[in-house]
Amino acid sequence: MSSERIEALITKMTIEEKLGQMTQLSPFFWGVEDGVDITGPLEALSIDNSVVSRLGSTLNYFGADKLKKLQDDYLEKSRLKIPMLFMADVIYGYKTVFPIPLALSCSFNPQNYHDATQIVAKESAASGIHLTFAPMSDLVRDPRWGRVMESPGEDPYLNAMMTEAAVRGFQGDSLNDKGTIAACVKHFAGYGASQGGRDYNWVELSKHSLWQYYLPSYKAAVDAGVKMVMTAFNVIDGIPTSANKSLFRDILRDKWGFKGVTISDYGAIDETVINGLVKDGYGAAKACIEAGIDIEMMSTHYVQYGKKLVEEGRLSIDLINQATRNILMLKEELGLFDNPYRYADAKEEQKLHKCKEHLKRAREIARESIVLLKNNQILPLEENGSIGMAGPFVAVDSTMGGWVLGDDKNSFTLEEAIREKGFDVITSVTKGLGAMQDGCFDIEDWVEEEIKKLEHCDVIIVGVGENAQDTGEGASKTNIRLSYNQEKLIYRLKQLNKPLIAIIFSGRPLEIKPIVPVCDAIIEAWFLGTESSGALADVITGVYNPSGRLAMSFPQTVGQIPVHYNCYNTGRPYSGKDERYISRYLDCSNEPLYPFGYGLSYGETEYTEFKVETVKNKMIASVIVINKSNVEIKETVQLYIRDVYATVVRPIKELKGFRQIVLKGYEKQRVEFEITKEMLKFYRYDYEYVFEEGEFDIMIGKNSADTQMVRKYIS
Ligand code: NOJ
Repeated sequence: MSSERIEALITKMTIEEKLGQMTQLSPFFWGVEDGVDITGPLEALSIDNSVVSRLGSTLNYFGADKLKKLQDDYLEKSRLKIPMLFMADVIYGYKTVFPIPLALSCSFNPQNYHDATQIVAKESAASGIHLTFAPMSDLVRDPRWGRVMESPGEDPYLNAMMTEAAVRGFQGDSLNDKGTIAACVKHFAGYGASQGGRDYNWVELSKHSLWQYYLPSYKAAVDAGVKMVMTAFNVIDGIPTSANKSLFRDILRDKWGFKGVTISDYGAIDETVINGLVKDGYGAAKACIEAGIDIEMMSTHYVQYGKKLVEEGRLSIDLINQATRNILMLKEELGLFDNPYRYADAKEEQKLHKCKEHLKRAREIARESIVLLKNNQILPLEENGSIGMAGPFVAVDSTMGGWVLGDDKNSFTLEEAIREKGFDVITSVTKGLGAMQDGCFDIEDWVEEEIKKLEHCDVIIVGVGENAQDTGEGASKTNIRLSYNQEKLIYRLKQLNKPLIAIIFSGRPLEIKPIVPVCDAIIEAWFLGTESSGALADVITGVYNPSGRLAMSFPQTVGQIPVHYNCYNTGRPYSGKDERYISRYLDCSNEPLYPFGYGLSYGETEYTEFKVETVKNKMIASVIVINKSNVEIKETVQLYIRDVYATVVRPIKELKGFRQIVLKGYEKQRVEFEITKEMLKFYRYDYEYVFEEGEFDIMIGKNSADTQMVRKYIS
């Protein structure tokens, strides 16, 4: 991709101007945030104001008028009048906030992720944003890692579908369309496999696992036309991703044909020195430009050493020209040369931010993201009665998860939303969670009299979980149980001998096994965004019949991690017998507490007449799904396949398709999947993506652990 305008500009640009385009610093450096004195940080980075005036982009600064002014001031000083690109972390919400991506993925409905990101794009484009650092599509298997909340989960197929939907949601059909922003898939690659779930840690992945499980979601983003790719913080194969030529040139550009812009993660180019890959900033700039990283985010080695590297013959000017070209082409595609403000418009901000239509869609999407984990016939609460409500999430007005830079307030508290449904509500012990202190967060212990207030309620709802700010980046944990006093509160409430419903707010699967036996119902609420409380009230009262399915397995105990459904068969698989020399733990079974794909509704379905047959040269797997109850059910019918033996060992099952159907009371429907050879392909020992004929187990079921199977020879 090239254009005459861009080529003409490149010819006129000095090397300093090119390196300026290749560097991104926060708005702080323009002194726009509360008039901050910029002398200190500039000195610390060994740059001066002339460098700042040439930088090509900034991040996380919002507001139509503020950004227009910054653009005007910048362009006034810019010799060649190249507009600045405004990027931001608008991940799952700006003003109207949607469920965290892990929850969105539990809706098993890519349209939801699409619509959520489309609204995020509209709202943030009106506030002057040109590009978002999203979607994050790192495959995740370790709930100790705080960033699992940003990911679509543990399954490569679902992850790729959700990622693609998000790219299309943000970018629309064309960036010329109003309300679109460019997307940036991150973090390339393998960041989700950080050792021990500790953030920023290195990654040990076999080449096979990287290609088979971790790369497909990024590839889906590239195929959907994503405009930018961000590096990760991790080292992989001994090389930090920001200096990883094999990832960024060989795979991304050469193999996948990516034509857009690459950007480092925050400070990650500088971190290649700390990692011990290079001696200093000079080495970092050389390694990362050669690896193909166009923009350096939040460090300044490119501007400091780029020219010197070229003059000393250590770096080709062609690489700098190409990076500059990539960046300018994106600016051109965004239309910035013709309108540097793009869609920034204070009137549109007023009109769009948290408008009725956006909030309505947010509530619908939040409802579909909720997962019902347990229900002893207690939900839904249909009769108007008195409800006792306790726990730190009942009266709190912000349950957003760790990545919201816009508006973090819920429309209602949970207590208000339940009252709105006509129930008498008595609350007790509702003080919020304290912040993490000395590795621990908790609610205060309570005075016994407070609990007694709930003695005469018909039902008790307890809202428990983890601090929203203890999820996301830099929020890894070794203990993923509810805090001590929250578990104690649940046990104490149970002693009141009332039906007890637990609602769990979390950014990751928590270790909730200890509370399962004492709760009559458990709802996984994740962090659902602005309309969280209304959506939960709709589910609790049966206005919406829950339909979410887990996009990530829940471990029984942290000691089982990683526990994901698509694992390999060992040579000594556990069969349930009490044997010693078998692949199992002595103190815990191998299964997760709740498996991938699992989720209940208020009705019951039965799958019958499962068969796999050839119809007009097509292999069709089908099943009849019967709604055995009188309520309407949204059912996610899941197709899994196992390649029984192949030239590389294949997982015991892999999701290959799903269909969402709506069944009226007692209705039945036949659901079909075509089995294609494309679905059966995998990366062989020589990294060819191939189909090998042989036996395959075709499975259809309600979740990854509850399937029916037929074995077929496919050639
Ligand atoms: C660091 C995070 O890893 C990344 O996801 C984010 O986009 C950047 N910071 C910019 O805020």
